Amino acid sequence: MELAGIQGLKGTVSVPGDKSISHRCIMFGSIANGTTEIHNFLKGADCLATIRCFQSMGINIEETDHTITVHGKGLHGLSAPLNILDVGNSGTTTRLLSGILAGQKFESKLSGDESLNSRPMKRIIEPLTMMGANISSILRNGCAPLYIAPGNLHGIHYDSPVSSAQVKSCILLAGLYAEGETSVTEPSLSRNHTELMLKEFGADIRTLHSLSGTEATAYIKPYPKLYGQKIVVPGDISSAAYFIAAGLIVPDSEILIEHVGINPTRSGILKVCEDMGGDITLLNESEAGEKIADILVRTSSLHGITIEGDIIPTLIDEIPIIAVMAAVADGTTVIKDAAELKVKETDRIETVTDNLKAMGCNVTPTEDGMIITGGTLHGASIHTLLDHRIAMAFSIAALVADGTTKILDSKCVDVSYPTFYDTFEQLL
Ligand code: S3P
Repeated sequence: MELAGIQGLKGTVSVPGDKSISHRCIMFGSIANGTTEIHNFLKGADCLATIRCFQSMGINIEETDHTITVHGKGLHGLSAPLNILDVGNSGTTTRLLSGILAGQKFESKLSGDESLNSRPMKRIIEPLTMMGANISSILRNGCAPLYIAPGNLHGIHYDSPVSSAQVKSCILLAGLYAEGETSVTEPSLSRNHTELMLKEFGADIRTLHSLSGTEATAYIKPYPKLYGQKIVVPGDISSAAYFIAAGLIVPDSEILIEHVGINPTRSGILKVCEDMGGDITLLNESEAGEKIADILVRTSSLHGITIEGDIIPTLIDEIPIIAVMAAVADGTTVIKDAAELKVKETDRIETVTDNLKAMGCNVTPTEDGMIITGGTLHGASIHTLLDHRIAMAFSIAALVADGTTKILDSKCVDVSYPTFYDTFEQLL
């Protein structure tokens, strides 16, 4: 994909359904009783991998243009897959599915692409093992492929060293099949879609927040009767983030993004944009399980800020595009406490800083983030390393750079946003 500088992005767009929520609809719908009807499901490669995994465990999932229907078989209705479960590029599929598989009475193996199979799985193997699960890394390197055999699970309390919704959700899902209550404390609250949605399906699940610090603990009781639901998936704020940034940094722009999920555990990007001086307004706010709003952005002159602490888990996937905004803002932006970036689809401290440097930006990688001083960007060849968020973030950088920017392997946007470049064209 080749892109060049542009002015005046104008119009109203909507973005595809939320990736995290789409995964969970399929998973919870499969282990619930009855039918789950899903609207605005994200048909990106990651969520399609989740569908395929559950289909190969005997779940009937029907796809039409507008609706996905999951015919759930209850907590114990999955059947042994005949082949290795292919999780593709998806960390969410791998970690959440492992929690469910740990509670099954059959053996399974799961494996993904090269990037997925190099991401850390010890973070789920350890707590699942504490619960009595039989789970191992087949190559004994702490990564997928994973082998999971039946085990007798018991509830634990787990103090997670990281604020990770994937780790938390994995343990809570295993907790559905464990004797006694299971609880997970995380240093600060990560996205809580599992807690919100499992409750809607009928699970006995609650969250308590520490009074003195930022810690949050989720508790779940085993063996609930889960019931199929009708779910309208909100637009993905992580996908909206690219158009929010474009609206703020491309001269003479005004963009309205409709029906975006603004769950507070996901919407740190909005606060960051405001703190940087962005003209951003929420319209038509409503709540049905998850909060949603329309987001209006207008071109603004941005300034550098420090981004650190509790807000990091609420914007972890948006750091590549925040870094792009910082690269054209006035002054210096410091991003700290974000070491988790190193274990995403790529090491995003490296992929973001290497590509920003290629565009002429003054940026320094650090152990847990980066320091970026704003200036002028120049067209370059962007090495996405097949990371969808790098492809999209640098496509927006290209719009404010001198000359032409080439996004290598731009097709990787399929992972979370197959129609990304089509949405973009609606604004020209
Ligand atoms: C996700 C959680 C986050 C996020 C990922 C999706 C989820 O990962 O980066 O894109 O759906 O639970 P961690 O929970 O590991 O930080």
